[in-house]
Amino acid sequence: MGFADPRGVPLTARDSGSIAAFEEALGQILAFAGDPVGALDRLIEEDPSCVQAHLAKAAIYAWSLHPSFVGRAREALAAAEAAGPALDHERRQAAAVKAWLAGRYDEACRQFDAILAEEPRHLTALFFAHQADFFAGRTEALELRPRRTLEALPEDLPGRGFVLGMWAFGLEETARFGEAEEAGRAAVAAAPRDVWAIHAVGHVLEETGRSEEGILWYGEREEDWAGNSYFAVHNAWHLALYHLDREEEGAVLSIYERFLAPGRRSILLNLCDAAALLWRLHLAGLPAGPRWQTLADAFAAKYRPGCHVFDDVHAMLAFVGADRRTEAARLMADLAGIAEGDDERARQLRRAGLPICRAIAAFGQGDWRSTVDLLSGLGEDRRLMTGSHAQRDILELTLI
Ligand SMILES: [Fe+2]
Repeated sequence: MGFADPRGVPLTARDSGSIAAFEEALGQILAFAGDPVGALDRLIEEDPSCVQAHLAKAAIYAWSLHPSFVGRAREALAAAEAAGPALDHERRQAAAVKAWLAGRYDEACRQFDAILAEEPRHLTALFFAHQADFFAGRTEALELRPRRTLEALPEDLPGRGFVLGMWAFGLEETARFGEAEEAGRAAVAAAPRDVWAIHAVGHVLEETGRSEEGILWYGEREEDWAGNSYFAVHNAWHLALYHLDREEEGAVLSIYERFLAPGRRSILLNLCDAAALLWRLHLAGLPAGPRWQTLADAFAAKYRPGCHVFDDVHAMLAFVGADRRTEAARLMADLAGIAEGDDERARQLRRAGLPICRAIAAFGQGDWRSTVDLLSGLGEDRRLMTGSHAQRDILELTLI
């Protein structure tokens, strides 16, 4: 017997209980909250035939972009295959995750697109495609993909608010700030703990220079974004930027200590936010002191070169910020070797990662001419650093 999720997307499952359990896990994925892997594991224990549960787990591990999780992603993919006959969109999801793991984001997005063409209400595919667009620096797709799903999703179906939040972020990244703010605020009204939508409005307030409103926006809903969410560190980073804009050094450092300082549970993206904030402090002439050394230690422990250009750039910031010339030189040599490959990651490194890392190293040595030449020579390739406009602003700030 066939089953479908509340939006009508058919799923392979044993019974309607599995569908309800998957919907709960999907809610956690969309909200960046709770323990979605734990929820999926419990579902798999009850119903190993739920292919979508294995696939979502594989996508979460792949999305972490961390080498230590690649094995777990592959195990989850193998379990999905072993679960039995799958539907077309489930087979395509497996292909998308495999491509993602191999660093072929274009191919992953092609597979997600094919799923969404057939099933535009497929929120798991939309979520991970949106994240792949973000990690690959595809600005236009960040707006286009959620808009198409919104057009296919009636207002009364669950999950629509989260799609609105994704669309708000895409609108912001394509500089349609008014529409982005309206969509983001509507998404937060629909789901107050939609941290991606809170973040989309945060970006609008940053890009339009409204730091006081930004501080209010985050201050009024701290319980919603700062609680049980693995996106809290990045939202805290945005809050710190408003204070930095207002030259409130004490507030910036207090947010750093509370949210961004590396700890046992820090993931690589948290370390990147920390490096970006300390670098901005450094550029503003505010010394970060021993924080650089702690952060460089954390990168040395958790980071591996060549997985993602965004991480490579931030690792270089940490090593140069801590004045660790040997580690910076070793990283540069490792990246140059990886850049000789012929996959998408190698191309991103050649066009953006290497020149940016060289510019940061040159900046650390006081070689301003090389820094300016390398960064101003990037042109449109600066997008390949990936991340958001606000995150790539660090390149302009370094040039100034
Ligand atoms: Fe952001």
